[in-house]
Amino acid sequence: MKRKARYLIMELLLCLTLVSCASAPEKNPETAQVVVGFSQLGAESSWRIANTESMETAAKEAGFGLMMENANQKQEKQIDAIRSFIAYQVDVIVFSPIVENGWDNVLNEAKKAGIPVILMDRMISTSDESLYASYVGADFYAEGRRAGEYLIRKADALGAEHMNIAEISGTIDSTPMRERQRGFMDVIAGDPRFTVIDSICGDFLRSKGEECAVQLLQKYGRGGIDVIYSHNDSMTLGALDILEQRGIAPGKDILLITVDGEKEAVDALKTGKINCVVQCTPKLGPAAMALVKSLTTGGTVSKITHPEEGVFCDFDDLTDPATEGF
Ligand code: AHR
Repeated sequence: MKRKARYLIMELLLCLTLVSCASAPEKNPETAQVVVGFSQLGAESSWRIANTESMETAAKEAGFGLMMENANQKQEKQIDAIRSFIAYQVDVIVFSPIVENGWDNVLNEAKKAGIPVILMDRMISTSDESLYASYVGADFYAEGRRAGEYLIRKADALGAEHMNIAEISGTIDSTPMRERQRGFMDVIAGDPRFTVIDSICGDFLRSKGEECAVQLLQKYGRGGIDVIYSHNDSMTLGALDILEQRGIAPGKDILLITVDGEKEAVDALKTGKINCVVQCTPKLGPAAMALVKSLTTGGTVSKITHPEEGVFCDFDDLTDPATEGF
């Protein structure tokens, strides 16, 4: 009976999916019993696009059907997607929450329906940890700390007496925004050489990174900023374009510290236009699908899994073949 209802709902959802142009799950008769509902938050950056590809490839390799919905940066759309996955009775829900707050109601609905939830990439803020089975994603606080540790090393090497830092942050209230900021600030706090003169939001978008750089230069002038700490490569590359257009040498006149490690940013590091790239891997698909496998075969899963990540910077031998972007 449950199976019959499930197929009727599936037919309906497939029709809706076609209308909304979202990707429908590929049915594999041998593995049709495992269907993953995946709510991706958007396509705001190269990182996100690589992350979506990683999820799609890993699901295919595992033989799972992937029902993916892209929320185009809207929390309401993610909530709607999760509700549609519950109606469809998927086996596991995976989602990358755009912000941390506001998920308890819909996740309680998933819990009541007996569908386990994996948080992929970003965390939620909740007092009820039973609302998700597992989190797989970066340790964003450690990333922020690595950015701060690089800056201290660079200031020492330059013999800098004082540096004005402007921060271009990611989406307000998202985990990477909160934690990359907290980690960075914790490391530089108490060092009198550093003043954070501003923090403006660039929403992880390249276009907004450009806008932020324009605003910062208008407000502080070219001599008023020594360092830009930007929460992702897309925004950094946008800011870098603006600096160059204004005849300011990125990486020299203004130091650039960024997070992610996409190819274009690592190449800019190699040419001296970016000083430090803190790595954040988008390739979370295999780990996410391993969790799905455990959850659907009665295995146990860790509550938190962080991938291994490091830093590429201008103190390194950048001819090392390991220095590569995604
Ligand atoms: O949540 C991961 C962050 O989101 C990446 O750093 C950024 O590029 C993406 O948009």
